[in-house]
Amino acid sequence: MSYCAIDFGTSNSAIAIMQATQAAGPSMRLVPLEGEHLTMPTAVFYCTDADDLPPGTWRGTSFDDNLPRTFGRAAVQAYIDGYEGRLMRSMKSILGTALVDQTTEVGHGFGVKYLDVITGYLRHLRSLAEQAGGRALDQVVMGRPVFFVDGEPERDAAAQASLEAAARAVGFKDVSFQFEPIAAAFDYEQHISQEELVLVADIGGGTSDFSVVRVGPQRAKRLDRRDDILANHGVHIAGTDFDRHISLASIMPPLGYGGFGPSIKGAEPRPVPSRVYFDLATWHLINTVYQPQRTAELRNMTDFYGDPAQHQRLMKVVQQRLGHALVGRAEQAKITVSQGGDTDIDLTLIEAGLHSPLGHAQVDKALGADLGRIVACARDTVAQAGIQPSDIRALYFTGGSTGLQRLTDQLEAAFPDAKAVRGDRLASVATGLGLHAARLYGRT
Ligand SMILES: Nc1ncnc2c1ncn2[C@@H]1O[C@H](COP(=O)(O)OP(=O)(O)OP(=O)(O)O)[C@@H](O)[C@H]1O
Ligand SMILES: [Mg+2]
Repeated sequence: MSYCAIDFGTSNSAIAIMQATQAAGPSMRLVPLEGEHLTMPTAVFYCTDADDLPPGTWRGTSFDDNLPRTFGRAAVQAYIDGYEGRLMRSMKSILGTALVDQTTEVGHGFGVKYLDVITGYLRHLRSLAEQAGGRALDQVVMGRPVFFVDGEPERDAAAQASLEAAARAVGFKDVSFQFEPIAAAFDYEQHISQEELVLVADIGGGTSDFSVVRVGPQRAKRLDRRDDILANHGVHIAGTDFDRHISLASIMPPLGYGGFGPSIKGAEPRPVPSRVYFDLATWHLINTVYQPQRTAELRNMTDFYGDPAQHQRLMKVVQQRLGHALVGRAEQAKITVSQGGDTDIDLTLIEAGLHSPLGHAQVDKALGADLGRIVACARDTVAQAGIQPSDIRALYFTGGSTGLQRLTDQLEAAFPDAKAVRGDRLASVATGLGLHAARLYGRT
């Protein structure tokens, strides 16, 4: 029996296992999950046509519901290639919401509980790690954001309890949690030679998490680090919210978002109801739009549209289930612009000739409020630590969304005396959780 550490991320996940025990103690390594990749998209594709299964399909009795499925990159690819089935992404975002116990239809009358999607994904991670390490795993350190849900402690506790239940359901007997930004601080700590105060900024897909931690080679040896954690704070705004705001700004308007109904006898036209556009622009809510009853309601809403073409485009997206493809385009456009270029979002999958240009000005406008709240959260974290911004020696960036230069520029400007250090954007948290697991479970 042995232990592992899981970074179950909103967008990407990873698992660390013990590599070897040396004089200094056990060392950990990340498990290759798809080919050589040490991280894997948090995505599952349920396949509903047993006669036409995509490459990389897993099936077998180990799944409670027996539905064949693909994971990670293969799941996203199966969706893009048009295999029959249902894609699930950003499942972490359902923790702490009413969806967790609800069932979503995956096709042909099959339904899966949202929490079971998470359980099946964790089971897959665990079995890959057991094969890679050649031993059974029964103890796990799971990462968790500082807040699964902002400002609602009961829902936040429920979110952690659901994740723990999922981990137990796959066979872990001992489940502990560590905050993701603190894990990232442990990773950073391996690479420094003197004691200092670091502000860790872990900006991922679902949450932006900060912690002020006193790190140093001597301190790394202690198991109880409570005194070294000066503050730990976060906000539920990150990459998937950026995707939503970019989608709403540049993809949803031709589908009717922000549009108006017909003018009738000089009365003010009423705005088109906007909920469906928010749901289509939010990774973890897309499937709610495809429920038969919801689709029927939307079909009957022609009268709400002054421009019938907008309603037709919306119905094409719903009927052909293009939701994930569209947010995927928003995400890709965000990354292109964050890396310095302008782009033009190709929307010909909705209609020939349809496209939407996106440059820095639009991205700044779409993300300005989000970035402001994230920077404010960083400042609050330092204030909660009872120190001045100038006391921070290092600003440690991890999480995929620290690829957004506008954001790191603003954070660096808020802490001008700190040196900016870039960690491994996708693996720091998992590596740090592994270090913590070795300290916690590897003492014998
Ligand atoms: N170059 C880039 N520029 C901007 N954003 C990027 C870039 N590369 C990846 N991202 C974004 O990073 C996010 C994923 O980051 P990461 O894998 O750290 O999140 P996560 O750990 O799954 O989420 P969380 O920790 O919030 O649960 C996605 O929203 C993705 O679009
Ligand atoms: Mg993360």
